[in-house]
Amino acid sequence: MANNLIKFLTEADGFVSGQEIADKLGISRNSVWKAVNKARKSGFEIEAVPNRGYRVVSREDVFCEEELRDVMKTKWLGAGDNLVFMKTVDSTNTECKRRSENGAGNGLLVITDSQTSGKGRRGREWKTPECTNVAMSYLLKPDFIPDIAPMLTLVMAMAAAKGIAEVTGLDVKIKWPNDIVINGKKVVGILTEMALEEDTISYVIIGTGINVNTTEFPEEISKTATSLYIEAGNKKISRAKIAAASALAFEEYYAKFQETEDLSALEDEYNAICVNVGRRVRVLDPKGEYEADSKGINSKGELMVTKDDGTSVNVYAGEVSVRGVYGYT
Ligand code: BTN
Repeated sequence: MANNLIKFLTEADGFVSGQEIADKLGISRNSVWKAVNKARKSGFEIEAVPNRGYRVVSREDVFCEEELRDVMKTKWLGAGDNLVFMKTVDSTNTECKRRSENGAGNGLLVITDSQTSGKGRRGREWKTPECTNVAMSYLLKPDFIPDIAPMLTLVMAMAAAKGIAEVTGLDVKIKWPNDIVINGKKVVGILTEMALEEDTISYVIIGTGINVNTTEFPEEISKTATSLYIEAGNKKISRAKIAAASALAFEEYYAKFQETEDLSALEDEYNAICVNVGRRVRVLDPKGEYEADSKGINSKGELMVTKDDGTSVNVYAGEVSVRGVYGYT
């Protein structure tokens, strides 16, 4: 009943009286009142004014399954039974893995309001406190060879960047290979995990954490992290819209990726928003760090750089990371 009420109120222009709602939904005034309370509990801000009725004030804080299903436009990723919304979970990547082992197939999208043990890259923790951010994972069961799979992280970065730019209008960039940055600070982290059976892929899980409405960051990343809320000038952003736009963009880019099984159809678009292109970078190679001029990615997703002695190197993300010579980007 709360879902019908929300749909009715959000489509209505301004206040609607309790009686009008009761008539429209075919329920009693008492049931209207109960539905309003239920909707408020799932995050909708509903104003009630005597003699005028009810009005939805803001839906930007809301993040629930109904809201998400309302805005999802994908064909297979997170469509129908492939969408799993959880109020809380240890890690959406771990949940995806569990569900895959229990028979879930290609296209499952697990998304949550909060994670209790979110995982970052290199064994780090990724915090997803309640009511603020997006944490989601895609389960893919592709039939290409395992060597190809790491490129999917770059496909995901492009998809999230596109989704965020569409919803917020912000100037979204990618720091190679897959951090998304706005004004030089990180807003999205991506963790891709893969399992093999013999030499074939059993599954790839792409986990994406988006700092949407958060204003507080752990001390160690406070200088390099930001959120869409902050970058949009303290404006709440709909998490459902961000998740839906990113998933739709992923379907589009993934289709192009599958045609060639590399990034040849996507590299120009990637390089157009890659912060490292045409910049001086510090390559953090475990075999020895060096500075170089970066040209952008090739069709394998490697960062092409020119060392000061004139030699060209294609840097592979699995082993090496880069940063700007003057800081994080
Ligand atoms: C990074 O360290 O930059 C990657 C962070 C990835 C975080 C996301 S949040 C959703 C998914 N579930 C996890 O446990 N981690 C990823």
